Amino acid sequence: MQRLFITGGTGYLGGELVRQAYAQGWQVAATYFSHPPQVAVDDARLLWLSLDVRDMLQVEEALDAFQPDLIIHTVFQQSGPDLWSVTVEGARNVSAAAQALGIRLIHMSSDVIFDGEREGAYTEQDAPSPVSPYGAAKAAAEQFVTEHVPEAVLVRTSLIYGFTPIDRHTRFVLDIADGRNTAQLFYDEYRCPIFVGDLAAALLELAQGDYRGVINIAGAECMSRHEFGILLAQHHGRDPAQLSGSLSVDSTVRRPRNCRLDSSRARQILQTPLRGVRTVLDSHPATANE
Ligand SMILES: NC(=O)c1ccc[n+]([C@@H]2O[C@H](COP(=O)([O-])OP(=O)(O)OC[C@H]3O[C@@H](n4cnc5c(N)ncnc54)[C@H](OP(=O)(O)O)[C@@H]3O)[C@@H](O)[C@H]2O)c1
Repeated sequence: MQRLFITGGTGYLGGELVRQAYAQGWQVAATYFSHPPQVAVDDARLLWLSLDVRDMLQVEEALDAFQPDLIIHTVFQQSGPDLWSVTVEGARNVSAAAQALGIRLIHMSSDVIFDGEREGAYTEQDAPSPVSPYGAAKAAAEQFVTEHVPEAVLVRTSLIYGFTPIDRHTRFVLDIADGRNTAQLFYDEYRCPIFVGDLAAALLELAQGDYRGVINIAGAECMSRHEFGILLAQHHGRDPAQLSGSLSVDSTVRRPRNCRLDSSRARQILQTPLRGVRTVLDSHPATANE
């Protein structure tokens, strides 16, 4: 039985990783920061640990105590005063400790490390060119990981969505559809959304192999934020006419517009299907109750 250390087990992706890894028989240690997990007790195969990734000593002690074969590092902050310390310095601490202890590392990165000016899709060979503070932090984190652990896997992914619980992108769309938010969805920002269950399964499959370096793992369908919103609203029984759109190019804040990821390498080496949004929504019962 292999030992897996999941940073950010209370997060959206981390929670799904914990569920799937546990079901597959991994020996799991999962970390939390501000949200202690809603579980009654640890059991012999699942250990919950409080961890602040900004504290190198805590990171080293937790890894040294659990002695994992593999770390999947999902922890990040998308914005705010802790963006850099958590996303960049946290990744530096985890990767330095992984290297010192000889532990294989899968690090989660993002499609927003690119400027989005590309006509086509970004491949694994493309170097980061961030235009937002979040993109810059994820790009700097990638660099630290590559420097500390040359054999690490860097997974670049796109918008992560799911159903139980629903993700923050779906919540945002439903809030607009229900009149709780007046935001507009961009017609000209393209992403390849990925179902959280597919992403977690792909990561655990990757964990079993010996792949190293960058790999894109995103959904099969690339679409605009507006189109994604329409599909989510329809699926959850809302009136898509409530969703209005605008152009990112007209926004006062510079944002990457085309973050299309080419995931053909992942499709070649992994059995896990990386389904497009329509295929996932068609396979999941529609609901108006969320
Ligand atoms: N979500 C997306 O659409 C998306 C898209 C592209 C890439 N990604 C990447 O995928 C990864 C997972 O994203 P996600 O949306 O699943 O994350 P998330 O739900 O926001 O979860 C973040 C996790 O980080 C933990 N955390 C925050 N500050 C911490 C600290 N100082 N020390 C230790 N843990 C801390 C949180 O713990 P508590 O909740 O207990 O505080 C939580 O478990 C990230 O690396 C992200 O960059 C996500």
